[in-house]
Order: sequence, then C-alpha cells, then structure tokens
Amino acid sequence: MCGIVGYVGRRPGQPIILSGLRRLEYRGYDSAGLAMVEPDRLAVVRAVGNLDSLFAAADGLDSSSCTGLGHTRWATHGRPSEENAHPHQDCGGRISIVVNGIVENYKSLREELVGRGHVFTSETDAEVVVHLIEEHMGDGLAAAVRETVARLDGHYAFCATSVDEPGLIVGTRHEAPLVVGVGDGEMFLASAIPAFLCHTKRMVVLEDDDVAVVRADGVTVTDVAGGPVDRPAQEVPWDDDAAEKGGYETFMLKEIYEQPTAIADTLAGRLDDDGGVDLSDVGLSDDLLRRLRRIYIVACGTSYHAGLVASYALERLARVPVQIEVASEFRYRDPVLDAETLVIAITQSGETLDTLVAMRLSRAAGAPVLALTNIMGSQATRDADAVLFTRAGLEIGVAATKTHTAQVAALLLFTLHLAEVRGAAPTDELIRVGRALRNVPQDVQAYLDNHRGLDEIAERYHDRRFFLYLGRHTGFGVCLEGALKLKEISYIPTEAYAAGEMKHGPIALLDEGSPVVVVATDGPVYPKLVSNIEEVRARKADVIAVASEDNTAIDELATAVLHVPRCDPWLAPIVAVVPLQLLAYRIARLTGCDVDQPRNLAKTVTVE
Ligand code: G6P
Repeated sequence: MCGIVGYVGRRPGQPIILSGLRRLEYRGYDSAGLAMVEPDRLAVVRAVGNLDSLFAAADGLDSSSCTGLGHTRWATHGRPSEENAHPHQDCGGRISIVVNGIVENYKSLREELVGRGHVFTSETDAEVVVHLIEEHMGDGLAAAVRETVARLDGHYAFCATSVDEPGLIVGTRHEAPLVVGVGDGEMFLASAIPAFLCHTKRMVVLEDDDVAVVRADGVTVTDVAGGPVDRPAQEVPWDDDAAEKGGYETFMLKEIYEQPTAIADTLAGRLDDDGGVDLSDVGLSDDLLRRLRRIYIVACGTSYHAGLVASYALERLARVPVQIEVASEFRYRDPVLDAETLVIAITQSGETLDTLVAMRLSRAAGAPVLALTNIMGSQATRDADAVLFTRAGLEIGVAATKTHTAQVAALLLFTLHLAEVRGAAPTDELIRVGRALRNVPQDVQAYLDNHRGLDEIAERYHDRRFFLYLGRHTGFGVCLEGALKLKEISYIPTEAYAAGEMKHGPIALLDEGSPVVVVATDGPVYPKLVSNIEEVRARKADVIAVASEDNTAIDELATAVLHVPRCDPWLAPIVAVVPLQLLAYRIARLTGCDVDQPRNLAKTVTVE
C-alpha cells in the first residue's frame, strides 16, 4: 500500500519518477501525484484513479527538473481525492513531502499546528509532516526532518524536498519500508526495489529512524540525533526482467510459470541428493529446537494457507503441537507464549502490519520468532530472531502464486530439519520425504507443460455464480487457497470447506450442476474424501477433482478431473494448488478481469 518514489540526479526526473510509480502499481493505490523542484517553485500534479490520469495531468507539467517526488496513495485517512493525494506542500508552497504509513498522533499535532496558524488543505494524517518540517527549517531540510521525526508516533516512511535546497531529498522510515537506489551520479528513493531496478542494482537499506540525506552524488545516513551511521550499499539479488512480463500476458501467469524455479531456488543448497537438510542459514540453534513444546504459525491471506498446509506435516513428523492463526486474530487473543513456544510468522512481503505486530507481541512475551519471508531487509527480517528466506524472486501479481508454493516448500524443509533434530520421525521416512521434495520442481513443471482439460473446464464453468471448494487434511489448505484465488481475481463468490464439514451447512447450497472443486490427491484421508464426492454427486452437483495422474477410478466419479503428477502425500499440496491457480486465472481472463490488480486489493497490506 502506498508507494514512494524519489529521484535526484542529472536527468529530467519526471519520466523516471512516473515509470517508478508504474512499477509500484502492484502495491495498490487509488490516487497518485508528482512534485518536481523547479527554480524557486514546486510543480505539483495529483490525480484520482489509476496512473493514466496522473500521466495525462503530468503532460502539462513537462518539467525538466532533476529532483522530484512521486507517490501512489491507498486511502486510509481521508477519501481518495486530489486534495488528499500526495505530495503535500507546506503553507509557503516551498517544501513537498510524500508519506507511506500512518501518523497515529496526527490529530493532536494538527490542532497544535492550526493553533500556530498553519493552513491545512487535506484530510490526511500525512499533511502534519510537511507543516512540522516547515516550522523547523531554520537549520535546513535534514535538521527539520530529524526534528519532525521526534514528534511523530506511528509507522511511516517519508521523503521531503525543498525549493530552498535544490538537488536534495531527505528520507526517513519507522516500521515502513524505504530503500535508496545508488546510481552513477543519480540516486533513487523508493518503497520497494522494483521502482529503480531498471536503473541500478545497488541499494542502501535504511533501518528504523535513519535519516538519509540524498544528493545526486551520494547518500549520507544519520540517526535522528544527527550522529553518523554506516549503511553500506548492497547488490539487489533480482534481475531487472523480474519487473517485466517477459512475453507473458500478465505478471500472474508469468509467476505461475516461474514456480519450478522459485521452489528449486528455495531448496538450493539446503537439501542434498540423499534428502538431508541443511538450514544453518536460518540461525535457530538445535538446542532451542529440541526444547520446543509448541509452535504457533501466524500469517495472513495466502501465506496463512501455506502455514495451514504445512502444519499437518510439522505436527505429524516433528511431533510438536502446532496452532495456526490469522495474525489479525492472534494479536488480540492474548496468546499464551513462552520461551519454549516458537512463533513462525509467514509473510512474503515482510511488511504485513498484522503479522509484524503479532511478531513483536510474541517476542515481547519471550517467544522466539522465526520469520518466513521473500524480501531481504524487510521489516519482518528485523523483527525476528531468525529468518528463513524463500527465494521466489520478485512477485508483482497481487494474487500470490510462486511465493505460496515456495513457502510450503520452505516449511517442509524446516519440518524435516526439526524432525531430525528432535529425533521425532524415523530417518528413512525423513529421507524419503526429502528426496521427494527435491523432485517437486520437476513435478510442477510437468503439470505446467501438460495441463490438459483445464481450458475446457474454465470455458464450461466461467459464467457460474458460485463455486464450492472442498478438501481434507493437507488438501484443506489447498482448497482454501484455490477458492481465494478465484474470488480475488474473478470476483465470483466462493466458499472453501473442510470436506467433512460440508454436511453441516454448505451442502444446502448445492443444486444441479453447481461446480464443486475437490482437492483429491492421494493421502491418508482419500477414501473419506471419495465419500464426500459421492455426497456431492448425489445432489446432482458437478465435481471438478484434482487427482493424481494414475488415479483413473476418479474419472468415473467426478464430472471433470485435473490430473497432476503423483508425488509424496506431504508434497502433493504444492503440485495440487497449481491447477487451482490456473483455473482461477483462466476463468478471470474469460470474465475480462484485471488479474494483476484486482479491485480493492493491495499486494502489501501495511494497515490494520
Ligand atoms: C495481501 C495480498 C495477498 C497476501 C497477503 C499476505 O492480501 O494481496 O496476496 O497473501 O496480503 O501478505 P504477506 O506479504 O504477509 O504474505
């Protein structure tokens, strides 16, 4: 949510900032704006709606300034409107700011500033920032930003620029992302790396309360008191083409097809040919793992589903009780936590606010926290005791796909490691699962290469008004994820249920021809699932089953079958979710939806 882009260099900044905003569109927004520092004035344009409106408005600006700020806003305080869109200016129109996040004490600050004669032009919490800076400009912009930070509560990142100090942008962050892209004679500031990846692969990751003073020839970082801090530049581990569609019609389709690589990269160097696991990069001691008496998994959305899928293997193979909870509930339930409870927080972005708060709360209660994330330097990596990285590369489609399967693979790696350290499962069983895990990228690739029948099923059912998804055991999380994918990108209502619970409610929804998607890959409860399929068929509803390739018996039972390569039951969820991603994708395309940016959704949810 909200995207910041800043540029200071030797080239005209307007097109660079606008294209940076384009690359941050995936974060979600409802208005946008741009401010360029002209000699002795600011040139500002703002527009409601998508970036095309801002691009049109910016045409008239035609600035050749080499310093400026851009912003995409996802409304929290104040409706989406031109006045509420960033950048915001001070009373004198000489300072401009863009803010991501929330200033929690904005009401009292606003009253105070109005009392001293400041004139506000928006309903936002963010505008207080620029008026505070205005008050402290006596010693220059950098000092004014430091003074301002000392007054703010909340979680935010912001950048400021002033006509009185051309060629300068000052940026800071507190529990919200801001990175500096280091170019040759030009510098970038952004909420996320893709904004500048086509210009430079070198970046400086700022820490909380750092103040970055950025000029074309470099960046100086200080703490809020002005003391120097050392933040060495590092290399971004992604290629620029990660932010391009690379011949695919959408990012989501590209990312679905990148799954074999995402999983293989996540396993690389951590799983040997004999199924042995090496997770020494994670930083959790064997001693702690042996002492654990309980595991909590906390996450949101698709990451929650990854946790749910893996929780069965974790409990069964490592013999540790596992509880899983969505982060927004966990944080308010006063959970019982101690030093022998491991909290695994799953967040691909490392930015989801509810998950971050759940992590902090857990650590404060003395529980060790393991973050499972895809983003280097993200907030989750700072708030955790240990980090397990997925290596899925940049994911831009709002509906998560490759990060999900990489998360499940990473959690299974962790499961094997934990089970081995605790001596909780027979070695030969762990080796068998480990070896099978090595083959999963090939299994997913095989399905992507041959997903016969899928397009016909999408064509046949795409105009239905409701889909029910059923699954049991590890297939339960898969059916939840399949249902989420369809509803979020096609807006077709879906319900996902543990198949055994169907008769306690959802069965009333079934009618002749109702589409019911059943995750029916092999596993310990497959025979029970067959009974559930019979119950659905007895109501004349249609069953679209996901089943192993050599399960021909199910062809007689289901209306249509999506056959996937047979693999170990613990790993089947990784393969079984792929046809559900593709089915949702095809249906959404047939119904004409924007799959990469579904309405109302944001890729990173940085508000409660
Ligand atoms: C949003 C995104 C989802 C994602 C969820 C959790 O809802 O649209 O794709 O699964 O946030 O995000 P996280 O980054 O914490 O995994």
